[in-house]
Amino acid sequence: MSATHDRKRRNFLKTTSAGAALLAMTKALTNWTCSGAGGATPSARRSFEAATRTLAELEAKGGNFLNVPKPDGEFLRLLIQATRAKSILELGTSHGYSAIWISLGLEETDGKMTTVEILSERIELAKKHLAQAGLAHRVTFKEGDAHKIVPTLEGPFDFVFLDADKDGLMDYFQKLYPKKILPGGLLAVHNAISRKEAMKGYLEMIRQHPDFDSVIVSLTMEDGFSLSYRKRA
Ligand SMILES: C[S@@+](CC[C@H](N)C(=O)[O-])C[C@H]1O[C@@H](n2cnc3c(N)ncnc32)[C@H](O)[C@@H]1O
Repeated sequence: MSATHDRKRRNFLKTTSAGAALLAMTKALTNWTCSGAGGATPSARRSFEAATRTLAELEAKGGNFLNVPKPDGEFLRLLIQATRAKSILELGTSHGYSAIWISLGLEETDGKMTTVEILSERIELAKKHLAQAGLAHRVTFKEGDAHKIVPTLEGPFDFVFLDADKDGLMDYFQKLYPKKILPGGLLAVHNAISRKEAMKGYLEMIRQHPDFDSVIVSLTMEDGFSLSYRKRA
């Protein structure tokens, strides 16, 4: 990242209070690849190294998998660590890039995730990548339409990441809230900037919802998350 881009990003983040908090958090994250952030135990370090290699491979490969950009993956991991989330649901697995970042967070909190993907070739790839990353033990894979699968999941979840079809967001929310999102939990939705028109109904609803505090957070300036905290009773 160039110095100019970095300065622009910092100024952008300073324009929101959530951004200022994020700046502090991302500073802590900046040197994670060389700061021994892989964990204290040898096995945590091994899975961290395998995951780093797999992430780098997926980043180099590119392709049509629509995965989150690296800063957003880093942010997911950091959110999970900071909130001590242990029970995570992801809708939209694709080839498993974000699931690797989420699972890295879960290595620290000792939690588990369920991830749902409609395309069988993608979920097969995701299984392969999570195994290669040494993180398959963190993940339950579900293949099929998330609109049908969510009602069958027991939950509750303390972190939900919605990254499947955007026009299905209201339906997902109705199927998850109130029983499957814990008070004190986070609900993150990707593409809140690039797909804001498709997400308009959801963004308006969640912004006004009395049980949630919501912000839009961008680490890249090009796209970002709708991030909602379910208030404790
Ligand atoms: C943006 S990609 C997910 C990227 C992934 N989260 C990552 O960052 O690595 C969206 C994925 O959602 C899947 N998808 C779309 N509609 C779905 C549905 N109704 N149920 C389950 N998966 C769905 C697509 O096949 C696609 O792989």
